[in-house]
Amino acid sequence: MKPRKIIAGNWKMNNTRAQTRELIENIIPKAENAACEVVICVPFTDLETAVNLTHTGNIRVAAQNCHFEKSGAFTGEISVDMLKEIGAEYVVIGHSERRQYFGETDVTVNKKVVAALESGLSVIVCVGETLDEREQGITREVVARQVKIALIGVKSLENTVIAYEPVWAIGTGKTATDDQANEVCAFIRETVKDIYGESAASGLTIQYGGSMNAKNAAGLLAQPDINGGLIGGASLKAEDFGVIIAACTL
Ligand code: PGA
Repeated sequence: MKPRKIIAGNWKMNNTRAQTRELIENIIPKAENAACEVVICVPFTDLETAVNLTHTGNIRVAAQNCHFEKSGAFTGEISVDMLKEIGAEYVVIGHSERRQYFGETDVTVNKKVVAALESGLSVIVCVGETLDEREQGITREVVARQVKIALIGVKSLENTVIAYEPVWAIGTGKTATDDQANEVCAFIRETVKDIYGESAASGLTIQYGGSMNAKNAAGLLAQPDINGGLIGGASLKAEDFGVIIAACTL
């Protein structure tokens, strides 16, 4: 089975409700004839607006984080059931900014992945090495560890997407080359194959993320082991995001 191709825009902490409305209205025509699935990962406060504006179309809505407990005394957190109820279909888990600034660890990533999948959400799990780790030559070890721990207790990969996002490429304008990105995505597929077998691994959507933009998207998306993108900065401009969506052919 071939993986589904998915272009996801990670808005990070951007866009008020009014800005969300405007951006989505401009993205809808770009997504209309897309050959791939289109996902927008919006702040919690924009989820309802995004769901309402996209419910008849082919854009799916994602949250950017969740908590792993069902409910309780976790001030400031949002549960997977809350996300489900509001109409989100995906949740991004383990983005490097959450690992770097908010104490996310491989273990909390795993708990969140399990909770989200159990609730019926799909997950986009982010992995990737820092510049220091790449220079030390331990990219594979780091990425294999992140993938394996994230998936502990996950029986089926049907609702799981993995995004390979080298930390040194995020928001820096320094994109991995097509070959560098494909090499690690292929390695992730191998790692998954060892646990879940050939058919699950070959059907798994693996995205690349890190300064993907309207200029470099076609090259990255043409790589055999890259099945889509997780796009930050360039997803905030409907024109650029539209070019990336169009570059994601089957
Ligand atoms: P960027 O962000 O495209 O702005 O580098 C990607 C991401 O953080 O998902």
